[in-house]
Amino acid sequence: MKILVTGGAGYIGSHTCVELLNDGHEVVVIDNFVNSSPESISRVERITGKKVTLYEGDIRDERILSRIFEEHTIDFVIHFAGLKAVGESCEKPIEYYNNNLYGTLVLVETMRKHGCKKIVFSSSATVYGTPESLPLSEESKVGGTTNPYGTSKYFQEIMLKDIYASDREWTVVLLRYFNPVGAHESGMIGEDPKGIPNNLAPFIAKVAIGELKEIGVFGDDYPTPDGTGVRDYIHVVDLAKGHVAAIDKIKESGVFVYNLGTGIGYSVLDVIHAFEKACGKKLPYAVKPRRAGDIAACYADASKAKRELGWKAELGIDEMCSSLWNWQTKNPNGYRKA
Ligand code: NAD
Ligand code: WQD
Repeated sequence: MKILVTGGAGYIGSHTCVELLNDGHEVVVIDNFVNSSPESISRVERITGKKVTLYEGDIRDERILSRIFEEHTIDFVIHFAGLKAVGESCEKPIEYYNNNLYGTLVLVETMRKHGCKKIVFSSSATVYGTPESLPLSEESKVGGTTNPYGTSKYFQEIMLKDIYASDREWTVVLLRYFNPVGAHESGMIGEDPKGIPNNLAPFIAKVAIGELKEIGVFGDDYPTPDGTGVRDYIHVVDLAKGHVAAIDKIKESGVFVYNLGTGIGYSVLDVIHAFEKACGKKLPYAVKPRRAGDIAACYADASKAKRELGWKAELGIDEMCSSLWNWQTKNPNGYRKA
């Protein structure tokens, strides 16, 4: 199939491009590089030995999107493009809603115009808000999001469901990612956060390489086994394969919702210790106050994706940490030249 990947130069997008190409699909990418670099696409091509058709542009620009649909017969769109930093979204809600909601609207409008009605959407476990019970299944209550980023994901899910309700020709696949970490085994592509990372795993990697002094553990008084926050970390390569499973498997129209997680929760201290094993040294950390908006624990019931898509995460916390360390040491400046 020919797949349009919006935001394909980003962290999850680039890994998904690799798995799509390895699975025999053709890949067209649109990205405005607001949070990425064209270098990642060159590296995807080097890893796979296959070409990606790359358009530099913004998904809110209907002209460039239309040009893509005129120049290619797109079978499926995988929609990653969006802004994703929780803290920044509280400071810049207008920019977040504009990019994420308006961007998705322009995309689906252009898809409809060109008769392409199949979309996989990057949703997030954040749509579950504060869990009432664990593990989270696709039937768990959604909403109650606490920041504009999360709310934009929740709204986008609703928009896409409404589109299907009005036109039963659409195929809408909502993939709710838990906490993606790690990198491709080649160490050629990975997560390249700008500035000081907000997320735990890239922060630990920066401490391990000596760029940051110590890890701050945000709270050790949660009702969890060791008191620190528990999350369902998933290897980005497994996550990428989840997208391939979805487009290969889902042939009919409808709305399909899947959690993409491992089903296993690890605490902050578990992750620090797994990373120490991967990098072969002790890592300094200090307990800090809880971070506003954080929940104690979050992990998936990942059985629906296994049952219906035949997909399950294969890689564990050790592979997540060792692949991240491999990427970090090979690319201390990310995609930027030293
Ligand atoms: P990322 O920032 O690395 O990738 C997003 C890509 O989209 C970037 O390459 C960026 O340049 C591009 N982009 C942003 N706005 C655009 C626009 N208007 N037009 C064209 N390109 C645009 O982020 P990621 O971690 O790869 O996340 C991909 C998707 O998955 C996002 O929608 C994100 O919200 C979602 N998601 C991510 C996580 C996570 O923890 N990384 C978890 C759940 C969901
Ligand atoms: C994980 C755990 C922190 C940093 C976020 C978004 C979510 C999704 C994934 C997109 C928590 C603790 C963190 C640090 C720490 N993204 N922590 N020290 O918050 O679960 O999820 O990314 O959809 O929407 O909210 O991930 O990696 O920030 O935090 O102790 O320096 O690590 O408190 O318990 P989170 P995270």
